Amino acid sequence: MRLLETVRRHVQQVLDSLTSGSSDLLLRITATRDPQFGDFQANLSLAMVLGKQLGREPVELANQIAASLRLDPFFASVEVAGRGYINMQLADAWIVEQSSAAEASDRLTISAPETCKTYIVDFSSPNVAKPMHVGHIRSTVIGDAIVRILRCLGHRVISDNHLGDWGTQFGMVIYGYKNFNAPQAFAANPVAELSRQYRLVQQIIGYQSAKTSIDSARREREVLSQRLIETQKALSTASSQKNPEEKKLAKQLKSIDRGIKDADEGIEELQIKIAAVEQEPDLLAIASKHADLESRVLSETAKLHSGDAENLRLWHAFLPHCKAEIQHIYDRLGVQFDYELGESFYHSMLAPTVDSLLQRGVAVESQGAVCVFLDGFDAPMIIRKQDGAFLYSTTDLATVEYRMKTFSPDVILYVVDHRQSDHFQKFFRCLKQTGLSEVELRHISFGTVLGKDGRPFKTRSGSVVGLEPLLDEAVARALKVVCDPSRLQNASLILSEDEKQHVASVVGIGAIKYADLSHHRENDYEFDLDKMVQLEGNTAAYIQYSFARTQNILRKLADKVAAEDSTAPRNFEIAFDHPLDRALAIQILRFEDSLHQSMVDYAPSVVTEYLYELAKLFASFFDQCPVLRAETPTQQDSRRLLVYLTGKTLKQGLDLLNIQTVDRM
Ligand code: ARG
Repeated sequence: MRLLETVRRHVQQVLDSLTSGSSDLLLRITATRDPQFGDFQANLSLAMVLGKQLGREPVELANQIAASLRLDPFFASVEVAGRGYINMQLADAWIVEQSSAAEASDRLTISAPETCKTYIVDFSSPNVAKPMHVGHIRSTVIGDAIVRILRCLGHRVISDNHLGDWGTQFGMVIYGYKNFNAPQAFAANPVAELSRQYRLVQQIIGYQSAKTSIDSARREREVLSQRLIETQKALSTASSQKNPEEKKLAKQLKSIDRGIKDADEGIEELQIKIAAVEQEPDLLAIASKHADLESRVLSETAKLHSGDAENLRLWHAFLPHCKAEIQHIYDRLGVQFDYELGESFYHSMLAPTVDSLLQRGVAVESQGAVCVFLDGFDAPMIIRKQDGAFLYSTTDLATVEYRMKTFSPDVILYVVDHRQSDHFQKFFRCLKQTGLSEVELRHISFGTVLGKDGRPFKTRSGSVVGLEPLLDEAVARALKVVCDPSRLQNASLILSEDEKQHVASVVGIGAIKYADLSHHRENDYEFDLDKMVQLEGNTAAYIQYSFARTQNILRKLADKVAAEDSTAPRNFEIAFDHPLDRALAIQILRFEDSLHQSMVDYAPSVVTEYLYELAKLFASFFDQCPVLRAETPTQQDSRRLLVYLTGKTLKQGLDLLNIQTVDRM
């Protein structure tokens, strides 16, 4: 049941008798934050806009609407405040009825699906054969939550892991394997050895490109220093003369200053890359023996793509190992895909895709390459390079064609890093120009995971952090916090070693997912494990703990009832008599609203926000509304229902984010 929609529908009945276009007006009705304004409020603008339409005073209109609404038993009271706000309070009887229905339903308060669309969610999609790092967690966790929420709302959802299994990184490991393989290490752990080769090749390429670019980076830095001095001079003259240019110059100075800082950091990074190789004679020898390694790697990739038997054989040998490695992470995260059609799957479709675009005149040859010139963009989208190689964009075009043919989706969501927004803007534009209009395409972009220093999350040595050790660390820290002996003792909780490990794993993995989801996807966020596993604040542990608390109360209540004389008559009347009873019941009924709201902009953070509000409300209720020691049987039954529904909603909400719960923690 969509609570807000239900309220709006009731108001609509009244508005329809006044005007023909009420749907816009209804958007001005929202839930209130402060109970003194009722449960829902029509903003002043409703009465003002309608008043203008009808040529009447807003207050007078608001009073007329309120009077009609009062006749509807759905509302307990309707008040007009100020110059025409309409404050509405729902009838308790209706809340009780809905809550009882929720108890009986296994979908809680969520109504049966209405319009069913077909979605394809393209997410996770790491480039395999190189270590999966913390950045990949965002696409995986956000995509997974979106899939689950959309499914819960009744849509047909196809999840597809568009693996990068055909790109340059294979050129790197093929080159690495041919030149630097340690056979014993490969036999013992192929993925670890391939990762080592990948990193080695990457390091040498990084070194060689740093060597060629450091001089120009220094020159640019020099130019900036010069400009800094000049601007400082100009500024001091301007400020002594009270010149209006002063502000502009100060702004320029700031931006030059920032430029210098960035340049210094860039140079430092290059120096680190250079030193790391030059300090190691072995690495230096490799770097000089394998000059211009980048083009050697590109030619291995090109050979693979053109069907070279040896490179294909190696690719076939490596791929299963690479897939097994990422599968291990997916298993730990509990993430599944309907399809894993990686880039290699589309390889044979690339040439026909380009040919058909050429034939249809959408693409043209330009300086030996094939391009699509895009309206509104300066640079064209290249879909075949001069040397005949296809690009990331070409694969994406072929992929859409295949998806349209195979699944006829209404919507395709691409859950990919914000750094690719340029690609997606061009790619979507290109698809429009090919005449594809029946599908809605959305780039579900997300921000960067940052370290404490505010830069992309890295270890001290500067390399990116692998995912697996991070998961282990989260579990270890969760164990420390949640299974702290004195905490367990205070809570009189006796857990076996196995139970402790299970709780730590549920809390630790949940912490990482929740921290990611609870930041709006467009924002960067700081990866702070200590904060993530806390039992207080907007964390997974807090929600999971609140759930465990509900289960604890229900267990005690069941024991109490069992111990009581079962022949004594009990009335099962439900009545919410404390303001917090009522507030909690209404928050529970808002669950479906939060799911729909979160899918307006595909932001799972709307759901974490909802769960956090529910958990906080439950904590206040827990403090102020005794359940075991309730004053009357009606009160106890009513509160038992609320505790039960709170637990069920928290659990189902977390489940939509693919976060587990435990009954005792
Ligand atoms: N493999 C790409 C990367 O790691 C992401 C692919 C996203 N999906 C797509 N259809 N382009 O950057």
